[in-house]
Amino acid sequence: MNEQTLESFHVEQLIPDFAAPVLAQLSQDRTAIEAAEVNTRQWMSDAEGTFTPGSEIHLRETCRMFRETFNPYRPAVLDWPELDPQARERIVSLPIWDIAVQTEGKARLRMAAYAATIANPDMRNALALNAWEESRHKDVLSRLVAAYGIALASEAPYAFPKDVEWAYLVTGFSECIDSFFAFGLFEVARRSKLFPPELIDTFEPVMQEECRHILLFANWLAWHRVQLSWRKRIAFELKVAAVWLFLGWERIGLARSLDADGNEQKQDNNFTVSGAQAVSDVDIDVRELMLLCLAENDRRFSGYDVRLLRPQTMPALVRFALRFMRARKACT
Ligand SMILES: [Fe+2]
Ligand SMILES: [Fe+2]
Repeated sequence: MNEQTLESFHVEQLIPDFAAPVLAQLSQDRTAIEAAEVNTRQWMSDAEGTFTPGSEIHLRETCRMFRETFNPYRPAVLDWPELDPQARERIVSLPIWDIAVQTEGKARLRMAAYAATIANPDMRNALALNAWEESRHKDVLSRLVAAYGIALASEAPYAFPKDVEWAYLVTGFSECIDSFFAFGLFEVARRSKLFPPELIDTFEPVMQEECRHILLFANWLAWHRVQLSWRKRIAFELKVAAVWLFLGWERIGLARSLDADGNEQKQDNNFTVSGAQAVSDVDIDVRELMLLCLAENDRRFSGYDVRLLRPQTMPALVRFALRFMRARKACT
């Protein structure tokens, strides 16, 4: 499948033993939605003992967590509330829609491509479900842009990755970075009350799903490391370091991409701070925003069994950076 480009695809095309979830055809009632919302954010294993990374129990419980916290919402029945002109303008002008839709499109392909290479059926199916959920995120975003008349750049065809492990690592670590900041920005948007609460509610499952995704990624990473011989492990760690360098380069704004018509698109990879101003009319300084990101990160992970590993790098980097940031003096 090398060099092949895929306009659209189903995860089952790449992973024949993956059974895509069957979602209810009818609109779910409020009680069912609330039960699913609780189920998706709280999970405790009934297994005893520690989950040593890479062990059989660690693998089994990681995959079980991912299966059992699945949220069966259906994009087709989501409500898109009527917006007043200011709220609509605020949403339409957020500089995120092209990159958000394309990121989900890339993520579903890259995750499915990597999942297809995993020999263990439990882990293969967990990553396949993750890919399927990315496809659902793309569906949610496509419905939102259609509902509010947001113009998107044409999507370039999604290329099947040449190095599926590299592509999966880039996607996984990107999600760890982006989700960490997205959790804080989402809370800023919620508190600002500039958007209807129904719209915030519509996106809440997507946010929590990203938390589950990076929880799975952190545990896949720990499990995968243990499976490698020392030679392969060294090569893998070099690749991980190269991925972080690549992501750092990408995020300081050097990355450019072309849309389907060959026009250069500048990606706003430093959206976090400008984004906070875009979703709130209160002036928020960087330190307050970082503290909020940390608090939201902790809150979103707090419902999952503490024996599962959490992504560490972004919280650690931000905690370190906060040591050098002074609190803003209160105006008197
Ligand atoms: Fe996603
Ligand atoms: Fe994700």
